[in-house]
Amino acid sequence: MADPVEGSTPASPTVKAAAPAAKPPAAPKPAAKPKESADPPDPLRRRVIWGMIYGYLGINLLMFLRFFFPRALYEPNTIFNIGYPADFSLGIDQRFLMTNRAWVVREPDRIFVIFARCTHLGCTPEWKPAENKFKCPCHGSGYDSEGVNFEGPAPRPMDRAHIAMDPTGKIIVDTSRLYMDDPRAGTNQFNDAGAYLPV
Ligand code: FES
Repeated sequence: MADPVEGSTPASPTVKAAAPAAKPPAAPKPAAKPKESADPPDPLRRRVIWGMIYGYLGINLLMFLRFFFPRALYEPNTIFNIGYPADFSLGIDQRFLMTNRAWVVREPDRIFVIFARCTHLGCTPEWKPAENKFKCPCHGSGYDSEGVNFEGPAPRPMDRAHIAMDPTGKIIVDTSRLYMDDPRAGTNQFNDAGAYLPV
């Protein structure tokens, strides 16, 4: 019997060679490490930023609270009680200067009240007992113990406030009602009723 292999034609080229084995899937790459920040956190910068935030909030809070305190101007009461005539000795009494801008002047036969406002530009003069005069610190006007100007730029005496006695015998002063002596206008109200109180 003939060898079936011997003399046989070579294998047909159409016979495909065995396909190469499939490549195993590539292993997943490990996740990239997050980049580390180059600079460590700066605690000073944090404190500054928080300080600015708290400052901003604090200012806003103060502005909010400010609404509860309106800008009201509290003028002293123009009508006030100064007590009894016996409470005043002869001379200038300064008890009502700070509260009501007024000096009470007691003379042997009368009491009157000088409104403490310089007739030059409105400053408050000072009483100088050693010199027995009022002196304005602004431009140097001088007034005698009755408030009559005698030196400096003041054009006329200081005004006097309305004075009266109430039914209980107390003296009531009203600095919204003033009496003036203005020689330029030929006006003198210092002897009008209400400009002084006879005692
Ligand atoms: S305001 Fe008093 S002297 Fe000018």
